[in-house]
Parts: sequence; C-alpha cells; structure tokens
Amino acid sequence: MPQFQYYLNFHHQPDPKALALTSPEATQAAHAFHTSLPGYAPTPLVSLDAQAKHLGIAKLWVKDESHRFGLNAFKGLGGSYAIAEYLCGRLDIPVDGKAFSLLTAPETREKLGQITFVTATDGNHGRGVAWAARVFGHKSVVYMPKGSALERLENIRAQGAQAEITDLNYDDAVRLASQMAEERGWVLIQDTAWDGYEAVPTHIMQGYTTLAWEIAQELDQPPTHLFLQAGVGSVAGAVSGYFAALYGDQRPVTVICEPDQADCLYRTAKADDGNLHFVTGDMNSMMAGLCCGEPCTVSWDILQGVGDCFVSCADHYAARGMILLGKPLDGDPRVISGESGAVTAGVLEGLLTEARLADLRDKLGLNETSRVLLISTEGDTDRENYHRILNIF
Ligand SMILES: Cc1ncc(COP(=O)(O)O)c(C=O)c1O
Repeated sequence: MPQFQYYLNFHHQPDPKALALTSPEATQAAHAFHTSLPGYAPTPLVSLDAQAKHLGIAKLWVKDESHRFGLNAFKGLGGSYAIAEYLCGRLDIPVDGKAFSLLTAPETREKLGQITFVTATDGNHGRGVAWAARVFGHKSVVYMPKGSALERLENIRAQGAQAEITDLNYDDAVRLASQMAEERGWVLIQDTAWDGYEAVPTHIMQGYTTLAWEIAQELDQPPTHLFLQAGVGSVAGAVSGYFAALYGDQRPVTVICEPDQADCLYRTAKADDGNLHFVTGDMNSMMAGLCCGEPCTVSWDILQGVGDCFVSCADHYAARGMILLGKPLDGDPRVISGESGAVTAGVLEGLLTEARLADLRDKLGLNETSRVLLISTEGDTDRENYHRILNIF
C-alpha cells in the first residue's frame, strides 16, 4: 500500500490577524497590477463533470495554472508582484494598474539603474522571477537544488537568468541565495519567509491570491472542499487564507497535501507544539516543486488555523492525479498537470475510492453534495517524466 498519513487539525481556528495579510482587501493591489501586465489573462477554471459523477461528488473544479503568463505554472504571480513592490517602494509610488508602464519607462529604468534579483528554486519560482526581472529590464541569478531536471534549468536560462544547479538541497540553496544577496548587493526574491525576512515573501503570497480572486469571480457557489499542495506552504497559505477571509464561516474544508519525503507542514501540524518541524537532507520525490523541508513562517500562521487536514503521501498519488487529469473521462476537458500540480487530484481520488480512507472521507464530510476545488499549479514542466507517467498506466 502506498504511504498515506494524515493529521486532522479541526481543533484550531483561523487567526484573524494572519488572515488579514491575504484578505481580498489586502490583495487588491496585486490583482490590479497583474491584470495590467502584458499577456495577462485569467487561467481556465474547468469543471470535470464526468469525473465528479464517477467519484460520487457534486462538483469538481480545477484551476489550470499551466496557462499563466506562458510559464507553465502559477509562480510568476508571486515573483512579479514582489519585484513590482520592491521597485515601487524604491520610487515611493503605489503598486497599481499603472505601475508596470511606469516601471518600464526609460527614465524610470535610468533612475533605478541595473538591479540583480536572486533566488533559489526547484523550477517554477525561479522561472517566474527570471521572467519578471526580464520584463522589468533587470537581471536575475537563480540557484537550483541538486537533482533538478535540466529542462527546468533551461527554461529559467531562456528567460535570461544566470542559473545553475548546485549540489545543495532546496533549503540550503535558499541560504546560498540569501548569502549571495548580502555579499553582492543583489535583491533576494525568495518565496519563503523566516524570522527577519518577511516582507518579500508576504508580497509573493499576496501575488498568488490573484488566482483565488479569479476563481471567486467565476464561481456562483463557494467550494465546500479545497485541496492544496504545499512545499514551504506559501501558495497554500495564500489561497486558503484568501478564501477563509472571503467566505468566513462558510470557508471550505481545507486539505493540505505534501510528499512524504518533504512533509514539514504535516510534521509541524502533528507535533502541535508551537514549533516548526523541518525535514533535512535529500528529499527524493518526483514532486520537485514540493520538495522543501522548512515551512514558510508567514504562511504557517495562516495554515495552522485554516488547514483542516494535513496529508503526507507517496509519489503514487501524484502519478494518479496526473493520469486522472491528463486522461479525462468522456466529455471532460483535459488538464495537463505535472507532478506537483496533480497530487491533490490523486489524493482526492484516493479518499473517494480507497476503503482504508473511508473513515477520513467521512470526517472531512466528502460526499455526493461536495463541491471540490483543486489548483493544478503546473503543467508538464518535466516533459520526460510526464510522458513516462502517462504511458505507464
Ligand atoms: C507547481 C508547484 N506547485 C506548488 C508549489 C508549492 O508552493 P509553496 O512552496 O509555496 O508551498 C510549487 C513550489 O515551487 C510548485 O512549483
């Protein structure tokens, strides 16, 4: 039996102070900024009606982030907004719908000079930062953990970044990026927070809420269940925090999914001792985007109250999700979803079909009235593995 562990966290309540960071009010500027970017379009929110029927639920919605800014993943939302906040902060101007044209005007570029943004990434965030740095006319340096797929490295270089695969794990690559920023006077745009480094990751999380805002505009009924994948937890905190602030008591039951090789949020929730719990060493999961061992502090403040269930699962569930979305039932649209994008679909399918998970299914209230929302956070960012998985089954 593939590994599947969970921790139920219903006894914790959302912290209003933490939720305020990613509330609809606090994130209006991010939405205004994104919608003004060239190439902006809301990503598709598809309804898999045949699959919902097959699984015995009322609705299954999937937000397909493979269409975001031509980057095959959602991450550009965070990097672009954080860079805009940084540049506008330097100029003391607001980040709004006019910011992009102001920031890219020749006289502004001259005033700001050439800036180098630096980050660490297992792929998608670095591609997003490299893209944003390029469109704003600046430079970027990107460090990747050992074992990163060459295709992901090349995609980052194609955005003009100086990028390399290090021999470090993800969390140590983050420390390298931070150290290089300090030594070289570069600007660190990291998608995770720690004590003393909170402003940029908060902006990144606020940037991610644009996808939740798009969903809320399209849905006429709120979801009853929300499944989110997590690495450091920034996107899960941002999206669940946005919906918790928006829907209040009607907020969806929220399930956070991680690979069993990098389940720092699951461990932190389960320990329930007020401390963060890390995973160290090599993290060998094909869910590369989720292979992070240290939770984002800002996001954890949200997730500790909004995450109702934390799941730690084997790669098998990501593979099942990739198949479910990539080989749809008759009449349903196809969603090309990579390893980190698809794990929530695999977990949902497991919950609704595996006898050993029936008890959890009941505790989560998953049944024929449920309206489930998933975010496919990436497309086939490692095409070789994508084809391998789809052809195996
Ligand atoms: C495709 C994809 N999904 C989800 C995540 C998880 O995001 P976070 O690290 O904010 O939890 C990542 C992170 O890189 C990712 O690339």
